[in-house]
Amino acid sequence: MHMNKEVIVSGIQPTGDMHLGNYLGALKDFVDLQNKFECYFFIADLHSITGDNDPQEKPKQIIDAVETLLAVGLDPKKCTIFIQSHIPAHTELAWIFNTITPMGELERMTQYKDKSGKQKNNINVGLFDYPVLQAADILLYHANFVPVGADQVQHLELTNVIARKFNNKYGEYFHEIKPYIQKPLRIMSLTNPERKMSKSEPASTINIFDEPEIIKKKLAKAVTATDAPQGQMPKGVANLFSLLEMFGSMNTLHKFKKEYDHGTIKYSELKNAIAEEIANYFAEIRQAKSKISGNKKDTYLILEQGAAKAGNVASRTLRAVKEKIGLI
Ligand code: TYM
Repeated sequence: MHMNKEVIVSGIQPTGDMHLGNYLGALKDFVDLQNKFECYFFIADLHSITGDNDPQEKPKQIIDAVETLLAVGLDPKKCTIFIQSHIPAHTELAWIFNTITPMGELERMTQYKDKSGKQKNNINVGLFDYPVLQAADILLYHANFVPVGADQVQHLELTNVIARKFNNKYGEYFHEIKPYIQKPLRIMSLTNPERKMSKSEPASTINIFDEPEIIKKKLAKAVTATDAPQGQMPKGVANLFSLLEMFGSMNTLHKFKKEYDHGTIKYSELKNAIAEEIANYFAEIRQAKSKISGNKKDTYLILEQGAAKAGNVASRTLRAVKEKIGLI
């Protein structure tokens, strides 16, 4: 048993290919964290159906997301991997939290505002309630740290608000969580560097499993000519440099920084160099993914074992919560 280890919880939605934002904002950290903490990583399938859901595609997307976790290096011997909807305690605790969460807190959530702007014909209650389910995901396992990208920090703050409200009303039970963020990371869209790289805009992303040619093509279209105040790097260019910093060698980075400072930089060359470095960086992970995809039986077994383990912890928490609030 890992009785003394601190607990890490994080989820990722199965909504298509994972991109560099998902990798740098979350997956990469997961791989390091599994060696030091008691970790629960799950596929947030219930969150994903608040978007436009295609029931034909969903099962593939869910399995694909699990295979991605495995391909980047998560090891089911070191961490617990499961599917959110396999553990009913998530939705049950979310309902209980609904009864102590003020509407006003949810109305402030920027992701809600952003997403309801994007899916105008499908502004459903689930989309609004989404952060409450996220709080349940986290507090069920008594997380200490939650590794996420910067876009999720507001949801983690709300999780602490909900924990405090619960404690105030029903007695001390949940403890405070902290975001685990290596650097405040926000990988920007290739096509609109004012916005984050997002699965909902495929042209804006580079995906972990994109073939080298595709990466090159997408980068070739990346926007560099945006306005910037005098003396500041345009946002699109800054985003390219941050990708190079993350995935490239120091030498390449220095070479292009120098050219930028001297005004001799050719963006087509910078883009090609980044494309090559990214393709190399993910070569092994791409290979691992195709091997794992060929072995569905093992993946299902991992999920079954993961659900059993997470389910135990989750039902213990739910039982304690119900007792505290007077449900018999
Ligand atoms: P999701 O599926 O949108 O994204 C998964 C993870 O990737 C990070 N991320 C980014 N980081 C940097 N730059 C970007 N452009 C970028 N895009 C995505 C996200 O911050 C996230 O860490 N609500 C969550 C899923 C979730 C969850 C949870 C997370 C559900 N329950 C409990 C933590 C704990 C989400 O939609 O992530």
